[in-house]
Amino acid sequence: MTAGGTTRRDFLYLTTGALGAVGAVGVAWPFVNQMRPDASTLALASVEVDVSSLEPGMSLTVKWRGKPVFIRNRTPEEIEASKTVPVSELKDPIARNANLDAAAEATDTARSAGEGKENWLVMVGVCTHLGCIPLGTSGEYNGWFCPCHGSVYDTSGRIRKGPAPENMHIPVFAFTSDTVIKVG
Ligand code: FES
Repeated sequence: MTAGGTTRRDFLYLTTGALGAVGAVGVAWPFVNQMRPDASTLALASVEVDVSSLEPGMSLTVKWRGKPVFIRNRTPEEIEASKTVPVSELKDPIARNANLDAAAEATDTARSAGEGKENWLVMVGVCTHLGCIPLGTSGEYNGWFCPCHGSVYDTSGRIRKGPAPENMHIPVFAFTSDTVIKVG
């Protein structure tokens, strides 16, 4: 090994090391910056909705984590129509309710906000076929109808006909007062 060769290798090593350090500093800042959730991300983590103005038969849609969430104050007739269907007749017998056990059955109560609040349906308004947004108070069951490929959902958002494989999903939510629902 010659003295000249050693010097050159040391030089190359130091040069590479210096570039590496500069490069690391160059990418570290934006990476750290991206990991810090900004205000808009935090705001979307959950959303509080005042539902006091929703009379029976009225709905509203809120955006939560980039998706529409349908909140409907169902009429007694809509609740009854859903309650009378045996779970065994459903295409998807699972509640798909993030607030319940994953195996919970898709009864009307399990799809709704629960006992005493069966009139409230809170549901991610995305068709479980390929992700279109279904139309409300539409279709054969007067629930939701997805015009993209004809999926028909009932008054508790359960898939009844068409290509969609699952009931529309119920997100984590809770009433924080009699008239305010927190989604997420
Ligand atoms: S996306 Fe709704 S039926 Fe296909």
